[in-house]
Amino acid sequence: AVERTLSIIKPDAVAKNHIGEIYTRFEGAGLRIVASKMLRLSDAVAGGFYAEHRERPFFPALIEFMTSGPVVVQVLEGENAVATNRDLMGATNPQEAAAGTIRADFASSIDANAVHGSDSTDSAAREIAYFFAFSEVCERD
Ligand code: CMP
Repeated sequence: AVERTLSIIKPDAVAKNHIGEIYTRFEGAGLRIVASKMLRLSDAVAGGFYAEHRERPFFPALIEFMTSGPVVVQVLEGENAVATNRDLMGATNPQEAAAGTIRADFASSIDANAVHGSDSTDSAAREIAYFFAFSEVCERD
């Protein structure tokens, strides 16, 4: 089915100038970018986005990292977009990410792991609504 998923290019990948290469991978896999913006997350916005991780030991480091520099947030649309994007990203820990994935090629640690992608269509719906107004997500054919 055609799905949408929320993707974030994290501060490490933005700082290393990898935005374009990562967009090329999305488009090369047949995903369409239907919404896109760069922003600097506040503690409150990052904390709200990652609310499900609030009690995890890595939460403070996660928020500190995600607010350390600008991120690029996008909505990707395509056939099986959630799984397609997760295949492109590779494992959360770049040490475990398969060769040729975004995290294997661009990430340096489990915190600075280059990208985020929704883990389900339910998460995607919540995460897309968290960052984008209805009018900011574009219909494409
Ligand atoms: P992300 O997909 O953005 O969702 C939560 C993030 O927490 C995850 O990517 C990692 O960058 C970060 N993180 C740090 N430590 C862990 C851990 N032990 N398990 C899962 N995520 C972690």
